Amino acid sequence: MLRDPYPHYRALRDLGAAVFLPQNGLYAISRFEDVRAALRNAALFSSAQGVAANDQVNEMSRGTTLASDAPLHDRLRAIIAAPLLPRALEDIGPQIRSEARRLVDDLVGRGQFDAVTDLAQHLPLTIVSKLVGLEDYGRGSMLRWASATFNVLGTMNPRGCAAMTEVREMRSYLGGPDIRERLRPGSWGERIFEAADRGEVEPERCPVLMRDYLGPSLDTTIFATANLILLFGQHPEQWDLVRRDPGLIPNAINEALRLESPIRGFTRHISADAGIGDVTIPAGSRALLLYASANRDERKWQNPESFDVRRRASDHLGFGNGTHMCAGLHLARLEMTALLEVLIEKVERFEIGAPVLALNNVLRGLASLPVRVR
Ligand code: HEM
Repeated sequence: MLRDPYPHYRALRDLGAAVFLPQNGLYAISRFEDVRAALRNAALFSSAQGVAANDQVNEMSRGTTLASDAPLHDRLRAIIAAPLLPRALEDIGPQIRSEARRLVDDLVGRGQFDAVTDLAQHLPLTIVSKLVGLEDYGRGSMLRWASATFNVLGTMNPRGCAAMTEVREMRSYLGGPDIRERLRPGSWGERIFEAADRGEVEPERCPVLMRDYLGPSLDTTIFATANLILLFGQHPEQWDLVRRDPGLIPNAINEALRLESPIRGFTRHISADAGIGDVTIPAGSRALLLYASANRDERKWQNPESFDVRRRASDHLGFGNGTHMCAGLHLARLEMTALLEVLIEKVERFEIGAPVLALNNVLRGLASLPVRVR
């Protein structure tokens, strides 16, 4: 299932608008219109009781940005989203672009590299840790903790259970008494504590809010970036199109997020009986909203399985939709655009080797992708 979820998603879409999964105790919602409508109806499809597929994490994650409803959600989101808004990101754009150029120059000079560990991981790891203010945070720990954050949001299988240890380790590091002193002055982390000084948020929520920058910002962007290279390696004619017309870069990013959505799905708690097509999901149940399936729904997309950079895919659900729509999407786009802008100048062809899948309970992406460039 994790290796190739797409035939299962298609079967779910064909079975019905909402399909009960008895082993998981969840109603799967897999068609585009239904997933989007659910994401836009936060009163009925609530996040306040968690968005995981297991009770343990739903219990312990309540009151985070991801796992809250209005009005708490609006308050938390306003704090963490401030430095991630397009205007605020203008300042760091040049820094990201120059780092992307330095990296691509180096990798292209080598001729062969790993699209995940050498290329895709670099900007999220260096830039994000610097912006958050935790440069000394440890490359190794950050990636381990970020991937664990998503593993525990799925079903509590052995992979999820093993990840709990790492999530606890991250929580105790960020919740440690000296965390504020470790933060670089002027960093995003420091700004959260300043918001608490002004009384905008309870001080005990500061470490929780810092997790919003670290957990969801790494593997998601890394997987999306490596997927772009994989897709361009598999479809050289699409790479030619983007090289001839760089104006297609935003389309290409959307199309890759549509076809290979890094977050496959999150859940919602149903607050009152909910009619989805001809199915009624009873109040108190939990629904699994499958973004990755909605993004390949043949009811919405023509030739959904094909990678077409000319497709207008900007309404894909890879970043979610509605009130919880990804708070970091502008940063993610900025990082991917910066890399593609240099790559189209320097690379004529990506000759890809065998991709290695990173198995994660919620995410889909690669652990490794050898590439040779011409
Ligand atoms: C390609 C990269 C990314 C993808 C595919 C992605 C995907 C998503 C999705 C699907 C959601 C919606 C969750 C829901 O419906 O409950 C989300 C929320 C969120 N993302 Fe991203 N994300 C990416 C990058 C980032 C980055 C770079 C950051 C931070 C710097 C970030 C921070 C967040 C936060 C804080 C939320 C919670 C928002 C809320 O609950 O209001 N993400 N992301």
